[in-house]
Formats: sequence, structure tokens, C-alpha cells
Amino acid sequence: MKIDKAVIVAAGRGTRFLPVTRSIPKEMLPLVNKPLIQYAVEEVVASGIERVVIVAAPGKQSLVDYFSPSPELESFLEERGKAELLGEIQRLGRLADISYVIQEERLGLGHAVLTARDAVGDGPFAVLLPDDIIDSRVPVLRQMMDVFGRCQGNILAVRRIGYRETSKYGVIKPREVSPGLYRVEGLVEKPEPGEAPSQLGVVGRYILMPEVFDAISATPPGIGGEIQLTDALGFLLAKQDIYALEFEGVRYDTGTPQGWLEAQIAFAMKNPELSLKLKQYLGRLLQGSHPFRRDAG
Ligand code: G1P
Repeated sequence: MKIDKAVIVAAGRGTRFLPVTRSIPKEMLPLVNKPLIQYAVEEVVASGIERVVIVAAPGKQSLVDYFSPSPELESFLEERGKAELLGEIQRLGRLADISYVIQEERLGLGHAVLTARDAVGDGPFAVLLPDDIIDSRVPVLRQMMDVFGRCQGNILAVRRIGYRETSKYGVIKPREVSPGLYRVEGLVEKPEPGEAPSQLGVVGRYILMPEVFDAISATPPGIGGEIQLTDALGFLLAKQDIYALEFEGVRYDTGTPQGWLEAQIAFAMKNPELSLKLKQYLGRLLQGSHPFRRDAG
């Protein structure tokens, strides 16, 4: 079985990042100089998948525009001799074979994945939530696909979370089968601390078998009145195995200002054009001598 499609879910409201998400989709927020969604598409491509289905929502036209050809901008850059930028803009259109489906009603993550059913067809597929940015040596999706090669089943990415953080995640009941790889014996969406089956929280990367679509169809609204993917996976467990991989990499929740800022700084620090001056700036800021004050050291 080969995974040849990835679904990127970009249909949420971005409530945790209001007011900017009032008119800018959260997936279009920049991380240094690229929007979050581009990192997701690049992770998919770097993992060896070329076909991407973006689940968008009404009002998110800028996502479609971003990956569409822009002849006017291209001839402008060409006339100005900006070959490097031109190459980068043209590369965007060729990154992957991208199609779009629209989730007309915001009925939850499970429902958003179900919206992509026809576009996905009947093979195993990947799901990415683009506000979970993961900085890793090997793309997380690739790490999961390598496990898929052995398990041939549903695989979730998980990470250890704090005791008080469980109410922000889908949390698994794990049984370790090898270091960092678990058989999932149960799942709960956003349990209160104390009620969580473990401290392994699901991060926004999934490899799913097509049977998940029937499971979602049969899933009633759960927490928050939404059709939860986690609940559907709980039903799927009766029929299929689900594995969870504790991946290698650092995850940023860029759907919140705090996580977004941390990612911004971490990614800028790795950028050779930005890191030196940024380090000097942050150093001065942390010492309390404001770089823009007249008496700054
Ligand atoms: C979603 C999922 C949750 C998962 C999380 C990862 O929640 O429902 O199970 O742990 O993504 O980011 P959301 O963050 O959209 O509320």
C-alpha cells in the first residue's frame, strides 16, 4: 500500500489568534517569510508525496491565490532582474499537485477530513494540521511513513505533554510495542487532567486508512459540538489497529500567539541572514538595555 495523497486541513476559524484571523486565515500567517501552509506542503513533498488536497473554508481564497500562477508579479520581477525571487515565486506553483475542497459548514476536524473523501479515494492517506509546525531532521510525515512500511495501519504522531495540557489535545491510551512506538488502545479528545489515559497527546500529523471515512460518518458531535476525528478513531479501533509514534523533532503550536512567537524566534535563529543580528538584539533586550534607547549599550 502506497500513500500518495495528503490532506492539509485549513478550515478552522483561528479563534485562538483573533483578531488577526478575522480577515487573514491563520494558515497564511508568516513564519519568517513563508506562510504556515507552505511549511505543510513542503513537508508533504519532502516526505515523497506529490498530491495535496487542501480543505479550506469560505473566505479563505488567499490560500488558493498563494499557490496560483501570478504572471503580473513574475514579469515585474523579470523586468527588474530579480531572478532569485522570480525563481522562488515560480517554484511555489510547481511545489505539488494541489487541489482544494471547501468545508461549507464548520462542523469540526473529523467533518473537515470527511469533506476530502472523494478527492482522496480509497487508499491510505496523510492528514496534516498546518498550525502544528514541527522542526525535525527527518520530516515527521516521512518518519511516520517509514513506520507505515512496517505496520500498514493507521498511525498518529504523539508527544509527551504536561499534566495540565491534556485538555488541549487528543490523548491516547498507549501500549508500547517498541521504543517510541505504541499500539493505541483508546483515545479521548481534550480530557481534563486527571481523566486523561496518559500524557501522550496527538499532534497534527496522521496516516489514515480509508475506512476512517465510514467511521467519521458514524460519529456524532462530541466535545464542543463538533465531529471530532479523535472520536472517529476511537470507533475505528473496533475494526483496525492504530499506532502512535513519538516522533523526533520540536513541535510549535503556531495557532496561538505564544507558540507562533516561539517558532518565529527559533526559525529566525536558524536563518543565516537573520540570526546574527537577531541574537545581538535579543541579547541586548534581555540585558535590559533597549536597543532603540539613546543610552543603549
Ligand atoms: C486538534 C485535534 C486534537 C489534536 C490537536 C493537535 O485539536 O482535535 O486531537 O491533539 O489538533 O494540534 P485543535 O488544536 O484543532 O483544537
